[in-house]
This record gives sequence, C-alpha cells and structure tokens, in this order.
Amino acid sequence: MEKTLLITGGAGFIGSHVVRLFVKKYPNYLIVNLDKLTYAGNLENLVDIQDSQNYVFEKGDIVDRDYIIGLFDKYNFDGVIHLAAESHVDRSITNPMEFIMTNVVGTVNLLNAAKNSWKDCYESKLFYHVSTDEVYGSLGNEGLFLETTPYDPKSPYSSSKASSDHFVRAYGNTYGMPFVISNCSNNYGPNQFPEKLLPLFINNIRNNKNLPVYGDGLFTRDWLYVEDHAKAIDLIYHKGSNFETYNIGGFNEWTNIDLIHELCKQMNAALGVAEGTSENLITYVKDRPGHDKRYAIDASKINKELGWKPSLQFQEGLGLTIDWYMSNQNWLDNVTSGDYKNYYKKQYS
Ligand code: NAD
Ligand code: DAU
Repeated sequence: MEKTLLITGGAGFIGSHVVRLFVKKYPNYLIVNLDKLTYAGNLENLVDIQDSQNYVFEKGDIVDRDYIIGLFDKYNFDGVIHLAAESHVDRSITNPMEFIMTNVVGTVNLLNAAKNSWKDCYESKLFYHVSTDEVYGSLGNEGLFLETTPYDPKSPYSSSKASSDHFVRAYGNTYGMPFVISNCSNNYGPNQFPEKLLPLFINNIRNNKNLPVYGDGLFTRDWLYVEDHAKAIDLIYHKGSNFETYNIGGFNEWTNIDLIHELCKQMNAALGVAEGTSENLITYVKDRPGHDKRYAIDASKINKELGWKPSLQFQEGLGLTIDWYMSNQNWLDNVTSGDYKNYYKKQYS
C-alpha cells in the first residue's frame, strides 16, 4: 500500500461518506476506520465497502490513550483525518462532559500519539482535523464567517470543537506537526442520524408525528450536501497547504421555517399525499437554550485556492436525501428503536 490513513468517526454520518470516497478512489491506500460505535456510529452505513481489500475497521475509543498509542504502533499511519466527535448541540446542553472527553481529550490523545509516532518524519505526515463553522459563534443578519473570524463559540458543543481546533494549531506551532483544519457548515444527506433537523423531520413526517420547530423558526443555517463535504476533505487532504484553515460551505442559506416548508413540499410529493399534509404537522416548541441565530460561510478561499465548489443545487440534494431515506426505511427503523425513544421523550416532551 502506498499510504496508510486513519479516519476517525468513519461509521458516523460524514465519516462514512469520507471513508467510502477514499476506499473507492484510492485502492492503493489502506483506510483504517476507527470508531467507538456510539449511538451515532453505524456499520450499516458502510456495508457496500466493508469487504474491500484496502479497508479495515477498528472498534475503539479515542479517549482511551493507551489504545490510541497501540493503534499508531500497529499501523504506522501516514496521515489522520479526524472526524470522531460528539456532534449534536442539544445533547451537549444536557451532557457537556461527554463532549469535553471525546472532542477535547480524544483529540489531544490523537495528537500526542501522532507526535510520538511522527516526530522524526513530520515532513511526510498530515493531521487533518474536521471542524465546524459553529466555532465562530453567531452572526446577525449580515456578514459571513471568514477563516480569520475570531472564535466565539456559544454552546458546549462548539466550545469543545473550538478547544480541539486550538490544540491542533498549538501542536503545529509548538512541535511543528503538519496539520490542516476545515470548518464546515450544516451537512445534510443520506445516513444522518435522525436527531438532526432534516432526518428527524423526514422520520416524523413518515410517522405522522409533530415537527418541533424551535423558537420562532427564524434561525438561519447554510446547508451543504454531505458528498460535497467529503470531496472538499479529499481535496484539502491532498492539495491544501499545511498549517492552513479552510472554510467549507454551500452558499445556501435558509431560515429553518423556509427549509421546513421546502422539505414538507417535497415530502408530500414523495409520499403522494395532498399539498399541506406535512405542513399541518409543524409545531412551534420551546427554543434551544443559547440558540445561535445565524451561521453563514464565506467559502471563497477553498474555491480560489483549490477550485472547490458545491456540485449540487439544494433542491436536487434535498430530493436525493428524501429518496435515500424513503428507500432505506429499515435503516431509519433500526436507528430509531431502543435508546432513541428515550432520547426523543426526554428532548421533546
Ligand atoms: P456523527 O455524530 O454522525 O458521527 C460521529 C462518529 O464519531 C460516530 O460514528 C461515533 O460513533 C464516533 N465517535 C464518537 N465518539 C467517539 C470516540 N470517543 N471514539 C471514537 N469514535 C467516536 O457526526 P457527523 O455529523 O458525521 O460529524 C463528523 C465530524 O464533522 C464532527 O467532528 C463534527 O464536529 C464535524 N462537523 C459536522 C457537521 C454536520 O453538519 N454534521 C458540520 C461541520 C462539521
Ligand atoms: O453548522 C455546523 C453544525 O451543524 C455541526 O457542527 C453540527 O454537528 C450539526 O449538528 C449542525 O448543528 P445545528 O445545531 O445547526 O444542527 P441541528 O440539525 O441540530 O439544527 C439545525 C437548526 O434546526 C437549528 O437552528 C436548530 C433547529 N432545530 C433542530 C432540531 C433538532 C429545530 O428547530 N428543531 C429540532 O428538533
């Protein structure tokens, strides 16, 4: 094999798309997918590539320092693409410590293991840290997040991601470890766990359940199809400049309520029900504490330097997403049995 890459969190939503892309596109790379398989990790996401010769799955916890050191000894990685994280803002509000352990301590464990394993050969190595636009805080009606925007995280989730970003930069600055960081906006697409807005609402519509809109529904997010994020990660990993940060976004801002109306329209068509049927499920509920008003990304750096731009229009991406969930209702049924029911009751009752 030409290279051995560690991808963490590869059984999750974005990670599974990154693993698939790398396994298929780079048959000469050995792709090692390390995942703890939390509630958000699901090997069903990778059944189509699980028997590939250049793919290995390792079940493990990035918080377990000795395990991580052992993994670096075993594989002698050329690079790391680090996606493993606790990723849901609402869960970070009820259980911040889980986020500190995985997102901060877990990231530092990986950095330490990489530092020890790579210290005599940094020039051929790369630590790629996948982060979020939420580290920049919340925007008013105007403006966009640039790579130079000062950090101002507002939730336990975004604070833990901001902290991990700082540690990655500190290892670059202090020890010379080559790194890249990308900060991306809201992803959507197949395989997203139905605790996040779009898959939650798709699942609720198909089960004729209420659609819980937080607050006034006028919060704004920028949405990017997950495969476009995976392609950006591939490009940055191979062509990005070391020690740099790249913002990734869809140039595609929606208020939640407009997005939900668009989803309802497409779901009515997919289910063959009358106009207005899904819309009748919309229910305004108590707001998320500390809810960030607006995120919006200026992705011109990655566009100018690396030639990346989103490949799909939003309506098309949303259509593909709905098609996937409607064709994979077993997947939805499997991930919404068991613990999910308790989570849902606690979060929305
Ligand atoms: P996800 O929650 O779907 O998946 C996270 C994966 O990490 C799961 O497979 C889980 O089992 C694994 N994991 C969690 N804790 C672990 C641990 N201690 N050890 C090993 N594995 C562990 O998350 P996602 O939405 O795919 O996000 C992936 C990454 O991208 C995260 O770092 C997130 O912050 C970032 N990100 C997400 C979005 C988004 O819209 N979803 C946008 C920008 C950035
Ligand atoms: O911006 C990137 C971030 O996007 C990622 O870093 C996070 O991992 C990812 O979860 C996402 O964070 P958000 O908090 O924006 O995503 P979520 O899907 O939870 O919520 C999107 C918007 O919808 C937000 O304004 C809250 C609102 N919402 C969400 C849920 C789950 C509702 O109104 N009702 C809901 O039930």
